[in-house]
Amino acid sequence: MNRRDFLGGLSLASLTLAVPGLSGCDSGNRVTPAVNKLNIPPLLDSAALKHELKVKIQKGQHEFVPGRPSQTAGYNGSYLGPTIRLYDGQDTTIHFHNQLDEATTVHGHGLHVPGNVDGGPQSRIEPGETATVTLKIRQRQSTNWYHPHLMGTTAHQVHSGLAGLYLVEDQASQETELPAQYGVNDVPLVIQDRTFNDGVMKPYKATTAQLMTGVREDTLIVNGTIAPYFETTSNFTRLRVLNGSNARVYELYLDNGEKLIKLGTEGGFLAQPVAISSQKMSPGERNDLIVDTSGSEAFSLMARMLPTEGDKTTKLARVVEFRPATSKPLRSKIPSSFDSPPTWARSAVTKTRDLQLTMDMPTQRHHASQHGSMEHIFGINGRPMDINRIDFNVELGAVEIWRITSQWMEHPFHMHGVSFKILWQNGKQPPPEEQGWKDVVLVEHGVTEVIAKFEHPASKDYPYMFHCHTLEHEDAGMMGQYTVT
Ligand code: C2O
Ligand code: CU
Ligand code: CU
Repeated sequence: MNRRDFLGGLSLASLTLAVPGLSGCDSGNRVTPAVNKLNIPPLLDSAALKHELKVKIQKGQHEFVPGRPSQTAGYNGSYLGPTIRLYDGQDTTIHFHNQLDEATTVHGHGLHVPGNVDGGPQSRIEPGETATVTLKIRQRQSTNWYHPHLMGTTAHQVHSGLAGLYLVEDQASQETELPAQYGVNDVPLVIQDRTFNDGVMKPYKATTAQLMTGVREDTLIVNGTIAPYFETTSNFTRLRVLNGSNARVYELYLDNGEKLIKLGTEGGFLAQPVAISSQKMSPGERNDLIVDTSGSEAFSLMARMLPTEGDKTTKLARVVEFRPATSKPLRSKIPSSFDSPPTWARSAVTKTRDLQLTMDMPTQRHHASQHGSMEHIFGINGRPMDINRIDFNVELGAVEIWRITSQWMEHPFHMHGVSFKILWQNGKQPPPEEQGWKDVVLVEHGVTEVIAKFEHPASKDYPYMFHCHTLEHEDAGMMGQYTVT
């Protein structure tokens, strides 16, 4: 181990920054101290930019630890991308210029836009090409994101750094007294797990075993920052949390014993804010949370990195430490309720579909794994994704119930083009804090029943996807396609 040699070569000033970056050696429940200022992705406000934006998709050399560049990718930068603010009722045109040496797509995860601008696997952007999309935003305030979505390369492209937030604001969200100053008291937290060797991020690589469970690593990064702290200057701090990991499931909680106040889920506000002791988040899920930062003591948002098949231990990690600034000039308020439309009545439902997330174990298929291909193992209703097959058509305007079950292990199930509500999960109605508008749900061992209204079109040339958001499973074929016409 050359840790000592490496440290020997650094100045004292960079030492405090560098040490937690070397946490590849840390295991168990020792939590590294917060030493790096939380990076805040730049904000691109579509209204301020007259509704026309340029985004470069580029390779980068990102220094998670100063002086230790990692090979990464990003949007308009070396790792992750700008937070793009969009407004309900407005149309924004974005030019995505692909400067990578491979094809990609840019999917607007959580946006209610037609299939032809959804950025699914059909919307390839070849190297050197620019794709121009006009996003007509017609949806409630919500915390969404963008990321690549090509068949077979999504996991490595996202892992290299290609992800960013889309924050949708609407009339109501602009009129509340909620914390609303981006990066000050309305703070994005993109949570990912990576492996660092001597401060350098290990490039994406999945073994056969990791393809089965999804790639889970041991160092948390938040907005691309290792071991971050954030200085609070407001009585309340709003957190727009995205689990942007390939496969990790987290349970978030505060180490001072206080509760988190949950305002909303992926697709918008809950009917009422709910105080919760912890929040579980699977890949692709977002939560809009408030922490009380009016006190004078530092505290941390923590994550239990939940066990999986193949790794039965729960590790603890710090997500971010909140440090109070000496003065707190910003005051905000939490409303007692939000205008959140009710779920559709069951009588409005015209169709119920059953989807089983299926894994054929390698032994059941001769030698599938020996060819290094997982494609015949992962599927939905026994069939792996086929870009030339539309799995079904939904009638435009229809309200449907999808009943999702999973075989062998849990999977975060995601649908494009809609927000849904969970009606029933593992034999129970969800608690109030899970009754919000969502587009990813962790399907465990029982049946998960969701209801959605399909209000945007997707043709057979640009269908919507539904899939497991464990990126290794998605790439291996646990995905299907549907049209809305
Ligand atoms: Cu976050 Cu189909 O994607
Ligand atoms: Cu999506
Ligand atoms: Cu899965």
